[in-house]
Amino acid sequence: MLEITNLHAAYGDAKVLYGIYLKVEPGEVVAIVGSNGAGKTTLLRSICGVVRPTEGSIRLNGEEVAGKRTHELVDKGLIMVPEGRRLFPRMSVRRNLEIGAYSNRARPHLAERLDYVYRLFPILKERSEQLGGTLSGGQQQMCAIARGLVATPEVLMIDEVSLGLAPVMISRVYDAIKAIRDLGVTLLMVEQNVNQALSVADRAYVIQHGRVALSGTGKELQGNEEVRRIYLGLNSTEEELS
Ligand SMILES: Nc1ncnc2c1ncn2[C@@H]1O[C@H](COP(=O)(O)OP(=O)(O)OP(=O)(O)O)[C@@H](O)[C@H]1O
Ligand SMILES: [Mg+2]
Repeated sequence: MLEITNLHAAYGDAKVLYGIYLKVEPGEVVAIVGSNGAGKTTLLRSICGVVRPTEGSIRLNGEEVAGKRTHELVDKGLIMVPEGRRLFPRMSVRRNLEIGAYSNRARPHLAERLDYVYRLFPILKERSEQLGGTLSGGQQQMCAIARGLVATPEVLMIDEVSLGLAPVMISRVYDAIKAIRDLGVTLLMVEQNVNQALSVADRAYVIQHGRVALSGTGKELQGNEEVRRIYLGLNSTEEELS
């Protein structure tokens, strides 16, 4: 579905990605984890055409799309939910959702999609006339994901799925992610909460300094000594003691 080969990206002279290899199969949930500044957001922005890669290939359903513009990619069903939600604060929830359907691809499906996201997140239906900027952080994240779904994604990329959310909100957002997967949408998500990410993802990639340091199934990485030590705050000694 999505195949990334030797992807390099930079902001001016500052190189950020140094040859990323990554693959997402249809229907998979794939997580990207890694420390702050590792290049996770830059990777998603390069895939969705916000940052132009300096080298490498991005194939979407076999078609080369590296260097294409965001709106062209949106028309092909590659949709990004950016870090920090990015709602229009002075527009209603409904209007924010409608804007998700601006592409030719999505427009005909607006009514049906609104119905779907209101069933997925009933709070958004209750609050549909409230201004986006007045939603709580968790509600804003739901609204941002819902707006992504209104765009009729084939691949939905979500940056910082659970950042800043309370535990009960995190599990609600993850329930929604499972429902979205069951709808047949392929998911590529960046997640700070490594434990959470690895327990939901089919596969995951650990990014360090703009390269893939490790990859594997969620289970494999949960069992990986290095991942446990660095990201899960566990080590074998502690475990032997417990
Ligand atoms: N617009 C920009 N201009 C210049 N440098 C940038 C820009 N955006 C990001 N960078 C730099 O690129 C590097 C990678 O940033 P990026 O946002 O991709 O990291 P990240 O893995 O998403 O981190 P975090 O977990 O903190 O969100 C950082 O060193 C950052 O300072
Ligand atoms: Mg980031």
